[in-house]
Amino acid sequence: MKKPVITVIGSINMDLVATAKRVPEQGETILGETFHLIPGGKGANQAVAAARLGAEVHMIGAVGADAFGTELIQHLERERIFIDNVKPVTDTGTGVAMIVVSEGDNRIIVIPGANHALRPEDIEQCEEVIAKSDVCLLQLEIPLPAVEKAASLAKKHGVLVILNPAPAQPLPASLLEQVDILTPNEHERDIILKELDAVKFAHKLVVTEGARGVSIVKDGQPVVIPGFRVPVVDTTGAGDTFNGALAVALSKGMALEDACRFGNAAAALAVTKLGAQTGMPTEAEVLALIEAEKGGTK
Ligand code: RIB
Repeated sequence: MKKPVITVIGSINMDLVATAKRVPEQGETILGETFHLIPGGKGANQAVAAARLGAEVHMIGAVGADAFGTELIQHLERERIFIDNVKPVTDTGTGVAMIVVSEGDNRIIVIPGANHALRPEDIEQCEEVIAKSDVCLLQLEIPLPAVEKAASLAKKHGVLVILNPAPAQPLPASLLEQVDILTPNEHERDIILKELDAVKFAHKLVVTEGARGVSIVKDGQPVVIPGFRVPVVDTTGAGDTFNGALAVALSKGMALEDACRFGNAAAALAVTKLGAQTGMPTEAEVLALIEAEKGGTK
């Protein structure tokens, strides 16, 4: 069977991850437990999730001419992701994210750096690769005009467009009209639809609800696809894993509900390890979890 071809247009960050028993109060200094440099960025995370699940993945993005940039490019190559369209930028550093993980939850500050150097013209140059994709997967850690250009090129070529609207910002209706599937969490959903007719876009929504799973609208009715119960170490990248897996599953022709179940299982496995990409599973691992759940052994 032909591999799904997925083009991810988005951010590439180095995550600076500190773990601590609790988060500090305003003005307080506390001693943490561990520190790790871990590849991240919503775009790169979603690319890695899809590649581990067997897709041919093309990454469009930007990194700085610095040590983090070099390391992240090498990392993407090791994950067998095509990086020909990752642009080197000389006047700003590679994107970084400061992440504090505490009690299985996280707080994140992203400094976009090179990610914000991506322009619509850069995306235009990648029309050929977008055109031959099954899915174009987008997030909001790159400038909105670049996201809009990507969505319109994908639409022009009949490519399925999935937008993970994170971090959230109010979005123009013109963009949402180009998108086939929107994957916000509940908080992001309220922000992106704030100034819009929410009913008009309800059928495009796949709302991630953490451990509860995801909700969609089917035949005008809300349907919840429940999550899988696992021991949680770090939820960073859970949404990214879901999006990468959803893209792979839909490319393979799965129905939306089944694709969401596949995404939920992938995300559940991802949260059992520290770091956004560390626990991202293979297809065999996802299928094993789904089977185990069916057999009632999990
Ligand atoms: O979604 C998780 C990601 O958000 C992290 O890897 C971090 O880089 C931020 O972009």
